[in-house]
Amino acid sequence: MNIAIMGAMPEEIEPLLVHYKEYKLVEYAKNSFYVVKYNEHTLVIAYSKIGKVNAAITAVTMIEKFNCEKLLFSGVAGAVSDELQIGDLVVATKLAQHDLDISAFGHPFGYVPEGSVYEKTDKRLIDIAKEVAIEKKLSLKETIIATGDQFVCDSNRKQWIEKTFDAGALEMEGAAVVLVCNALDVPSFILRSISDAADMDAGFDFDKFLESSAKISADFIISMVDKIIDKTK
Ligand code: ADE
Repeated sequence: MNIAIMGAMPEEIEPLLVHYKEYKLVEYAKNSFYVVKYNEHTLVIAYSKIGKVNAAITAVTMIEKFNCEKLLFSGVAGAVSDELQIGDLVVATKLAQHDLDISAFGHPFGYVPEGSVYEKTDKRLIDIAKEVAIEKKLSLKETIIATGDQFVCDSNRKQWIEKTFDAGALEMEGAAVVLVCNALDVPSFILRSISDAADMDAGFDFDKFLESSAKISADFIISMVDKIIDKTK
């Protein structure tokens, strides 16, 4: 099986490359793909660069060029819910694009004709993640994630996103990745560890906690991969 593991930033995939150690580098579409032979399976690891368009390019490439049959995303997010703390792990049940707006024509935020406000991730992969969380004695919270091409560092914007999309966390790639995966019938899984609270301190907190939170997420993904592979035996 070929499994894609994506991040958005170098810090989000670095712990994976350190863990898997040996990989072949393939340059394609102005991006670097790290191909790991893992028993009889192949892991394709890449960071997309920040934002929805970059994320969509990488997701399509993972699926169409590298024939990935499942896509796992690992990275950090801003907390929307007050219940989330820095370092907490969240998995997206569904995602919306909070900056997609044709409300001038009477449509809901996040909606365009022939699309839908929310894109769902794969339930089976979430169930596998729950098993991993139990085994590792980690708390894993399921939530709606809102995605947009904005680093949110404003409490008003955050509250609007919470109210409009019922989101618990926000980031800048997930909904684009899942839109691509659903269009191409590839199961997707979006995992994030909280790096900041998307408020006025978010820039400072993000810089401070990016590495540690990215590692928490990547470590979980490493166990997820083993569990997915176990289940194919
Ligand atoms: N990813 C992590 N924190 C974020 C924030 N505050 N806004 C957007 N994406 C993020």
